[in-house]
Amino acid sequence: MSALPGSAEGTAVTGLDSSPVDASPETLAELPPLTEQTRLEAREIIARYPQPRSALLPMLHLVQSYQGYVSPEGVALCAEELGLTKAEVGAVATFYTMYKRRPTGRHLVSVCTNTLCSVLGGQRIFDALAADLGVHHDETAPDGSITLEHAECLAACDYAPVVTVDYEFYDQQDVDSARTLVAALRRGEKPHPTRGAPLTDFRGVSRQLAGFDQYGDEATRRAAIDAEGAIEPTLAGLRLAAERGEAAPPMPGPGPGQPSADTGEPRETVRPSGRTGETPGEEAADARVAAADTPAERAGAEQTHPDKGAEYGQPRGRQRAGTENPPATEPATGTTPPTSPSPNPPRAQNQEA
Ligand code: FES
Repeated sequence: MSALPGSAEGTAVTGLDSSPVDASPETLAELPPLTEQTRLEAREIIARYPQPRSALLPMLHLVQSYQGYVSPEGVALCAEELGLTKAEVGAVATFYTMYKRRPTGRHLVSVCTNTLCSVLGGQRIFDALAADLGVHHDETAPDGSITLEHAECLAACDYAPVVTVDYEFYDQQDVDSARTLVAALRRGEKPHPTRGAPLTDFRGVSRQLAGFDQYGDEATRRAAIDAEGAIEPTLAGLRLAAERGEAAPPMPGPGPGQPSADTGEPRETVRPSGRTGETPGEEAADARVAAADTPAERAGAEQTHPDKGAEYGQPRGRQRAGTENPPATEPATGTTPPTSPSPNPPRAQNQEA
């Protein structure tokens, strides 16, 4: 693992080792400085979140949209705006592979060399491109056009072997088509991806990832992003399974009280806690009631519970069957403080369940 290039702090503050900076001084000198506009956009991102530090990931993309990587200057800007230390920002920036530690070429070409793509030719594609560009993994061609990287599964195995350019998909590649693609990119062309939005460049897509739309209006954006793909997904696996008579294991049968067929009603689920509940929101509401430290807190949690007036945490089917507690006996006057619906909280029953 290497520190942020050019950053003495990257080593001294984060404790990461410091590989030599492989970007030339000329390249670093060409980086556009972060401006007041960058800072204003960073604040616009921060305003989207209840907690300022939640804005860090898109802010790092914003830095990349200006400078092509997470520069020491960008780390300092994020730290200042978010009230974090540079070490905290550096720890995040060096954790995720989408944050680059050295200046990236105009385009980032990622070749999937994970299992399925690799057996179908992904490694051969990577080797051919590396030879053409004169680079290894995570290096940039001398003309600054392309940064090449190995990628782990790009979640498109159905289209293997897969190459992405600036995270846009070019499916079912082979050595020749990938070389043609990269040659076009180096000439300044932007071949249309096999599906999804049109290609921009690494800084352009970084700006999108920071949440700044490049499309003028919603209709244009939808039309671009939802454009039909050029290649159908393969159904080879499905056909093979049908030929062999293979099928997925049957789903467990319905539990007690559950409908035997899909009635269109939402089904109960078994939560990780082992209890049943209809939704994660309902379970979260149960947890808020259970975690209340004081009667006032509990009353407040009960007031916002979706099962208000019923047995918290019990499956709704049972409540509907008539086992729910009666609502609070006090009529709601608008001035009466919220009270527990039962002097013997049903939570104890639930905890036994
Ligand atoms: S193995 Fe390449 S996309 Fe999954």
